[in-house]
Amino acid sequence: MKNHIASLILKSLDQLSAEFALPADIASKIRIDRTKDKAHGDFATNVAMLLAKPLGTNPRALAEKIVAALPQDSAITKTEIAGPGFINFFVNANHTANQLEAMLQDPRLGVPRAVPAQNVVVDYSAPNVAKEMAVHHIRSTVIGDAVVRVLEFLGHNVTRANHVGDWGTQFGMLIAYLEKCENESGRGLDLSDFEAFYREAKRCYDEDEAFAVKARSYVVRLQGGDQYCHDMWQKLVTMTMEQNQRIYDRLNVTLSPKDVMGESLYNDMLPQIVADLKQKGIAQEDQGAMVVYLDEFKNKEGEQLGIIVQKSDGGYLYTTTDIACVKYRVEHFKANRLMYFIDSRQHQHLEAAWQIARLAGYLPPDVTIEHDAFGMMLGKDGKPFKTRTGGTVKLKDLLDEAEKRVDAMLNERGGSYEPEERAQIVHDIAIGAVKYADLSKNRLTDYIFDWDQMLAFEGNTAPYLQYAYSRIQSIFRKTELSVGSIVIGTEQEEALATKLLAFNEAVTSVANKAMPHLLCTYLYELAGTFMRFYEHCPVLKSGVAEDTARSRLALCALTAKVLRQGLNLLGINVMEKM
Ligand code: ARG
Repeated sequence: MKNHIASLILKSLDQLSAEFALPADIASKIRIDRTKDKAHGDFATNVAMLLAKPLGTNPRALAEKIVAALPQDSAITKTEIAGPGFINFFVNANHTANQLEAMLQDPRLGVPRAVPAQNVVVDYSAPNVAKEMAVHHIRSTVIGDAVVRVLEFLGHNVTRANHVGDWGTQFGMLIAYLEKCENESGRGLDLSDFEAFYREAKRCYDEDEAFAVKARSYVVRLQGGDQYCHDMWQKLVTMTMEQNQRIYDRLNVTLSPKDVMGESLYNDMLPQIVADLKQKGIAQEDQGAMVVYLDEFKNKEGEQLGIIVQKSDGGYLYTTTDIACVKYRVEHFKANRLMYFIDSRQHQHLEAAWQIARLAGYLPPDVTIEHDAFGMMLGKDGKPFKTRTGGTVKLKDLLDEAEKRVDAMLNERGGSYEPEERAQIVHDIAIGAVKYADLSKNRLTDYIFDWDQMLAFEGNTAPYLQYAYSRIQSIFRKTELSVGSIVIGTEQEEALATKLLAFNEAVTSVANKAMPHLLCTYLYELAGTFMRFYEHCPVLKSGVAEDTARSRLALCALTAKVLRQGLNLLGINVMEKM
């Protein structure tokens, strides 16, 4: 309510700004206090007294002007000017309660659909074929998916673009090695360990000249559309994506096979793109290669750095693909907004590709394009997150370990579960904890992966929020009473009400800023505010009037709904019992 009143005063001052030169930092100067005596209303502000002197006017006269310019508002029943120039506000006690009751009835919990709905293309996850999903791919996958869920909840039309690394010269070597594996009797095909597969393919390429010659010929054949090479390539892609899909499902990530739009998708567009860049005078030939020189990209000596879009051997590059990709997303999906959840280290690469796309007219100025970058995942030692022997941590192993740890934790806590129910709970806590640890930090910073922190039942963690939810559910299991109409009586109830009503703002800010941690912070604060309410405002204790109990039950029910919906938007499950 304080914020609400402050916003009304700001609007009023804005009206008066033609008459008075208001200080620039006025918003931070407005203070709203609760009155001690209800005869003077519910809230008061001294803003007129504060401003009168610098504006060279009298405080009461200014207070009158501010009051006269206040917008009509259903939350405020009356205002009064008191003493030397205080403005008192009388609040409609039913207003907040009415809003909360409407929210409780609303399946969208008071979050309106965005108008207009936009076409948003979200580039995320993007693992590479025949490689293990690396740590930065989990970050992209989890953060991107949370933003996608929020955008869809707001009614936007979202295209998930999984820009899989499925093209490039390495495929000659991979196809040759796949063929070798298939031919060698009794060895079958084992792609379950991509690390080993890729490493062995590379070893053959480096050590066996005949193998290398064949690998190089396969690249040429693959690019020329040769059926055999294409089929072998397809096998590699399918096997990789089947394995990744299992990870997506396990992570409760909404990506599916139809969202795969790998680098190969743009392959046919590339000759045309380069020809177009040349024709428009954007790219020029340099020692057989096609190069773009951009003013924005200079070295320390101030010389322009060239961005190669086609090598002298005719091959195209990662940048060329990303230029085509912008064009495709704008034309094919009629995108209003293009979002890329990619490691911050790729920033320069993206800026270059986009700048070229702009110059070529593929990226109209009314289309928003954003690199929603994120930092690295670090171990507790502050170094890049690796296995003890310095290898890449496999995502599958990481999730297995999370479940093992949660399983042990539940054993320690005791509690009885049906076996099936228990398995589900272990999964939901483990996956929730791993995802939330990533989502709850500002994505722009590097983040430290710490098992103990993420699995704690206290602090800003998924288990804490899941526990808060299941605790509220247990209240409903203990009573026959149903929710009743809401009356806000105490300070703790009011604090909870204010937090609940801020859900819309939290969700919207995630969509606008592509920052899921804003929703995490909100949910964490909501759970804390609820705990304080629950401590101070008994619900089911004897001696609590039934109306009060039912009003408080309504607040409990609404808190549970917001927690469940909020976590759902982050791709995290809740459980009735924990
Ligand atoms: N496959 C790339 C990698 O592993 C990420 C691709 C990101 N998307 C893009 N449009 N470049 O780093």
